[in-house]
Amino acid sequence: MLFDTHTHLDAPQFDEDREETIARAVEAGVTRMVNVGFNRETIPSTMKLAETYDFIYAAVGWHPQDAITMLDEDLDWIAELCKHDKVVAIGEIGLDYYWDTSPKEVQHQVFRRQIGLARELGMPIVIHDRDAHEDIVKILREEKASEVGGIMHSFSGSWETAKLCMNMGFHISFGGPITFKNAKQPKEVLKQVPLDRLLIETDSPYLTPHPFRGKRNESAHVRLVAEMAAELKGMSLEEIAQITTQNALERFDIR
Ligand code: NI
Repeated sequence: MLFDTHTHLDAPQFDEDREETIARAVEAGVTRMVNVGFNRETIPSTMKLAETYDFIYAAVGWHPQDAITMLDEDLDWIAELCKHDKVVAIGEIGLDYYWDTSPKEVQHQVFRRQIGLARELGMPIVIHDRDAHEDIVKILREEKASEVGGIMHSFSGSWETAKLCMNMGFHISFGGPITFKNAKQPKEVLKQVPLDRLLIETDSPYLTPHPFRGKRNESAHVRLVAEMAAELKGMSLEEIAQITTQNALERFDIR
């Protein structure tokens, strides 16, 4: 059994074969997934998936790339959705200095407000951190994110950053990039992350693992991530699958 903690099955890349894609994931042993809705378009489509499939859960939040579009009423909308049985986290939220589609100050403000909301509601948060490790840690600390903790999604930082995040109650989630030959740092970080803080994900349709790199990613490929994690930890695939699934169930408070 595998748990894909971060996927975007509602993405238009799956419009032609969404049902088949979900069926392939189930066939590959994926028993649960968290679909992530991150703006005005993807939150409704995420909720629809979570309401259609009992093994698909939802995370809802405002992505840093879309920070500039978030209105007060959107924050209220996210708060309202958090009451839904299938909504298990607020995310993905954070900072993206790579695309830089929203000014940094706006990203910071939107990030801080959503951490505040998560604390108010007692929800874990899913963090998107692209080229912004230092500011992510600083804001998580200043906004007391340790009260709720959460997940560092598709983690690409150093072991030092991972430690700082784990000290604030975060799990570290790894995806396709750990399967890349040249991915020295994420492999080294994964080796050091304690087993009880380890999660796996696809971030499909993005970040496709080897040997499918360059093609569309899908949740079934979380098995390839699990295989690499097992190899790096010197464990069996079954052990890694069991541990990461248990971690995810606890992290998202799924019973
Ligand atoms: Ni994502």
